Amino acid sequence: LCGLVAPAEAQTYPTRSITMIVPFAAGGPTDVISRIVTGHMAQTLGQSIIIENVVGAGGTTATTRAARAANDGYTLITGHMGTHAASVPLYPKLAYHPEKDFEPVALLAGTPILILARKDFPPKDLKEFVAYVKANAEKVNAAHAGVGSVSHVSCELLHSILDVKPVGVPFNGTGPAMNALVAGQVDYMCDQIVNAVPQINAGTIKAYAIATAERNPSLPNLPTTAEAGLPAFQAQAWNAMFAPKGTSPAIIASLNAAAIKALDDETVKKRLLELGSVIPGPKDRTPEALATLVKNEIAKWTPVLKPAT
Ligand code: MLT
Repeated sequence: LCGLVAPAEAQTYPTRSITMIVPFAAGGPTDVISRIVTGHMAQTLGQSIIIENVVGAGGTTATTRAARAANDGYTLITGHMGTHAASVPLYPKLAYHPEKDFEPVALLAGTPILILARKDFPPKDLKEFVAYVKANAEKVNAAHAGVGSVSHVSCELLHSILDVKPVGVPFNGTGPAMNALVAGQVDYMCDQIVNAVPQINAGTIKAYAIATAERNPSLPNLPTTAEAGLPAFQAQAWNAMFAPKGTSPAIIASLNAAAIKALDDETVKKRLLELGSVIPGPKDRTPEALATLVKNEIAKWTPVLKPAT
């Protein structure tokens, strides 16, 4: 009988609103995905989930704060490939460790990377872009969301393939970076698809290619990097929910169940797919699968990024 009695906290949790820390500015991919998913989770959990955008240092300021928060289930964070993997080799004095200081809750979305440019950037296609950036590496600049962010790391990978070192222009998130791109204040950016689909469809920016093996249904006319002549550049990011280490397994289980319910909701699914996200399949939705992803991603990015520091 004992085994059937859930701990008291799981029976009552949550009794008040939950704070979801988003480590970048409002309007960027992390913020957009968090708002779509937590909006539905709040209905399931019966409490509001308040998004708190905490910016700075490529998302590591916010992630440090989340690592140090009370592990009572009332402070969570949406982390990603940057905050919970690439930051490890890029910040030798990182004040948290993605594996040791967090409990994985659930993977929320895969997000292919696109090569984007201001509307009047001269190259017409990816081949011209490659030639132009190589010829003008000292003049062109690439916007990103801070050292260790997905946009930074993705363009670092692109630049290492092209063997160029253009100037980077940091923003507090690719929401503001996208605004600067639309305004023609920066030249190009490697960003997650979620941020780009509305702008591409509105014709306010240029998109050269998507860095995945297949085209994305949300942008069927956008070629893959392989189709457009740069097969070596392959990049897809991910966004996921984490709680501070030591958060009880019962709370993690109820958050994971609420996140899965959100991902299965038709409206949530439609919105995520319209923005080009890849919705995790059943075997990728467990906290254990997310723990494995974080481990593998740290192992993948460490040798790629260490020489750059
Ligand atoms: C990133 O580049 O890491 C993200 O796109 C930042 C953001 O969500 O704004």
